[in-house]
Amino acid sequence: MSSSSTSSLAPGTASTSKPRVLTGDTPTSTGLHLGHYVGSLENRLALQDEYDCYFLIANVHAFTTLAEKPEQIRANTIGIVKDWLAVGLDPERSTFVLQSEIPAIAELTFFFAMLIPFNKVMRNPTLKTEIETKGLGETYPFGFPMYAVGQCADILAFRPDLVPVGEDQEAHIEMCRDVALKFNQVYCGVNNRTPAERHHLEGGVFPIPRAKIGRVARLAGIDGTNKMSKSLNNAIFLYDSAKDVQKKINKITTGRQSPSEPGDVNNILMQYVDAFIASTDPSRAAEIKRRYGAGDNLGDGHVKQELGEAINALIEPMRLRREKLETPAGEALVLDVIARGVKKANVVAEQTLALAKKAMRVDFGGRVVG
Ligand code: TRP
Repeated sequence: MSSSSTSSLAPGTASTSKPRVLTGDTPTSTGLHLGHYVGSLENRLALQDEYDCYFLIANVHAFTTLAEKPEQIRANTIGIVKDWLAVGLDPERSTFVLQSEIPAIAELTFFFAMLIPFNKVMRNPTLKTEIETKGLGETYPFGFPMYAVGQCADILAFRPDLVPVGEDQEAHIEMCRDVALKFNQVYCGVNNRTPAERHHLEGGVFPIPRAKIGRVARLAGIDGTNKMSKSLNNAIFLYDSAKDVQKKINKITTGRQSPSEPGDVNNILMQYVDAFIASTDPSRAAEIKRRYGAGDNLGDGHVKQELGEAINALIEPMRLRREKLETPAGEALVLDVIARGVKKANVVAEQTLALAKKAMRVDFGGRVVG
């Protein structure tokens, strides 16, 4: 992609002419699982060459539910970076961003909070689901719903074109788009009939980012009903041993009685065949589904065995790389990757903040601290 414009407003012009990607994970736990993989990690891996990628560790957001567990958040933060490295996210090509060290994100959060109606935040379906599944009841802190506004700032601070996420995050990306549209209209004079994709060409500070949903929008957990999630105890982790992977797969229940019983080709087992066998061997996956549906002598046990092998083949290299990082040298590498990423990320985020403040007429020459 070549950039014909030298305008500092165009996306992707800071250090490279590639369009940008931003996405991230919250270190409320370490241990990414297969749901993360098919929902977002796989897209991140595929986008690393064509895009200028920013991967954010939302450690400030982790405080919205774990404020009393700072040690745990710190350990999870380091764990997430190790997971990323193990999966193949590459800090030489992409920038790893530690949210707490990017002051522009916090500043933009406050400004953006003025552009979203309070009730709209409280109706955000992703937040509502989280309140339910995490059992937060009425006790969550003020900062909990605020994180949805913060997520708009995480994204817009980097003026990305694409945000690869799982389907569960779509409501957040929609809110982020609303904020960017509103900002460009209110402070940059962009006409309210201007289509989203033309905003940054017509003077808007922010390109309107698009969500990119993964190949499998929503991977069910091994319980077959809920979304795969650590807190629901239904996840297969990228670092699970080969034996544990097979054990977890074997626990899946379909209610099918015998290999000659026509099976439901949309059941959880078949969803996993689509997710993890079709990706490498589509004809085998089609064959499994045909025979399963027809009750053509194909037992659940056999499918589970093949599925376990396919998943293990996928995650084995990740598991090995992850193990190697469990050393003092691995820890030092992580800290170095964070330090380098923070430096690069702050250059872009500060540029964005300056552009936003100028548009908002909060342009008083910036600050000198110390
Ligand atoms: N809320 C996201 C999650 O829990 C993590 C996240 C934080 C994020 N900031 C982001 C994702 C910005 C995409 C873009 O998975």
